[in-house]
Amino acid sequence: TTHDKINIAIDGPAGAGKSTIARMVAGRLHYVYVDTGAMYRAATWFFLQRGIGPEEVDKVLRFLPDLDIELLPEEQGQQVRVNGQDVTEEIRTLAVNAQVSRYAQIEGLRERLVSLQRQMALRKGVVMDGRDIGTCVLPDAEVKVFMTASVEERASRRYKEMKEQNKISFEELVRSIEERDRLDREREVSPLRQAEDAQLLDTTQMSLDEVADHIVSLCRTYGSES
Ligand code: DC
Repeated sequence: TTHDKINIAIDGPAGAGKSTIARMVAGRLHYVYVDTGAMYRAATWFFLQRGIGPEEVDKVLRFLPDLDIELLPEEQGQQVRVNGQDVTEEIRTLAVNAQVSRYAQIEGLRERLVSLQRQMALRKGVVMDGRDIGTCVLPDAEVKVFMTASVEERASRRYKEMKEQNKISFEELVRSIEERDRLDREREVSPLRQAEDAQLLDTTQMSLDEVADHIVSLCRTYGSES
C-alpha cells in the first residue's frame, strides 16, 4: 500500500546529530530535507557581511527584505544560497557559529524564516530539523523527535567535522556549545524545548544507523495506524 506523505520534525541542541540524521531519514523515505539552522546561519552571514550587528535590531529588520535564502537539494545534503551566492561553506565558520544564536533571537527575523519554512512543508514529505520545529513551525507534524546527547559527545562529533580545528581547542568547543545551548533555551521567542508530543531520543550511545532506523520505524508505525 502507499501511504500519504507526512512531515517529520527533529529538534534538539547543537551537535546532537540532527542534520546528519534528518538527511539520512529524508534519503530513505525519498523526502525533502530542510535544515532550518542553515537558514539562521545564512541570515547571520548576510548581516555580518554588511556590518550589521545582532544588537542593531532596527537595521536588521530594515535590511530583511534584501535577504533571499534558497536551499537547493544536492547529492550530499544541500546548497545554501544567499541572493544567488553559494554560501554553503561560509555559514559553517567560527565567526557565524559565534553570532548565530544572537541573530536568532530577533523576532522579526524568526517570523520571516518561519513563514518560509512553513511554505516548504505545505506539500508534506519534509524532514525538518531545528530548535522550534515541533513546538512552533510545524506543530501538526505527524512525527516529532527531540534528539539529545551529552555535551561531550556533541562536542566531539562537531570537532570531527570541523575544518578549523587549529583555531579552537576541544575544551573551548565544549564551552561554546554550552553557551549556544543556553542562549537557545533561554531566549524569549520560541526557545529550544521538547514539544509535549515529541519523542525524546538520547543518542549518546547510539550509532547513526540506529537513530535513523528508529525514526523511520516511527514514521512507518504512524503510516500504518492512520
Ligand atoms: O542547527 P544549527 O547549529 O545549524 O543552528 C544554528 C543556530 O540557529 C542555533 O544556535 C540556533 C538557531 N536556530 C534557531 O533558533 N531555530 C531553528 N529552528 C534552527 C536554528
